[in-house]
Amino acid sequence: MKTTVATLKKMKENHEKITMLTCYDYTTAKLMDAAGIEILLVGDSLGNTVLGYEDTLSVTMDDMIHHTAAVARGVKNALVIGDMPFMSYQTSIYDALVNAGRFMKEGRANMVKLEGGARVCEQIEAIVKADIPVCAHLGLTPQSVNAFGGFKVQGKSAEAARELLDDAKRVEEAGASLVVLEGIPAKLATIITEEVSIPTIGIGAGAGCDGQVLVYQDMLGMFSDYVPKFVKQFANVGEVMSTAFKNYMREVKEGTFPAQEHTYKIEDEVIEALEK
Ligand code: KIV
Repeated sequence: MKTTVATLKKMKENHEKITMLTCYDYTTAKLMDAAGIEILLVGDSLGNTVLGYEDTLSVTMDDMIHHTAAVARGVKNALVIGDMPFMSYQTSIYDALVNAGRFMKEGRANMVKLEGGARVCEQIEAIVKADIPVCAHLGLTPQSVNAFGGFKVQGKSAEAARELLDDAKRVEEAGASLVVLEGIPAKLATIITEEVSIPTIGIGAGAGCDGQVLVYQDMLGMFSDYVPKFVKQFANVGEVMSTAFKNYMREVKEGTFPAQEHTYKIEDEVIEALEK
């Protein structure tokens, strides 16, 4: 069954946890979809994990569309969210609408995500009016790294916590269907989850959210540049890959790969004819 906005709403009502993972390519999308993950987020974190940038600011709309379309081709049931990159929606409502439209038309996403609360509500309203579902993103929003002065936990003071709660209510009023809460205290995320009727998806925000998201290379132990405190490694795929690469290299160098079973046959007469 295809996951839709209505499915997610029902899951919150039924206290059924929602699972989301980041995804950037067709092969991984097929595996996650078959496993039953409800939401695949084509996050602008691909700037770090796929493209090797130190933050997400250099990611372009074309980068995002390219990867969103690949993920959408691998999915049967999961809901695909396209993450609007830095300066694709902050510049104007018109830009936000045009770029959200590109995610739907070219990327075949089912929803778009953008960072920010009250200050992007006009954009959220305009996108929702065009029948494009929106996921908001509050807290430690990576596109604000320079304004925050680093990747720092948000919402720790009374004023900042109040502002986050207000932002969550504002994005709900503006029509968002979902809200990601990143890098905020667990107790605050639980309060926000209770105060809004749209599902909250936490990352570094504790177990009180309606669902969870992780960057898939983090949870598979493939990305070691920086491992945040909130990451749990569910497997050490990085080590499995590294061992496989070394074994391949050894077998090629010693001549044991490819073996007979990896080769194609040809009739002896054909070879004999060649040698005449
Ligand atoms: O870009 C991303 O992967 C994200 C998640 C970490 C929420 O925004």
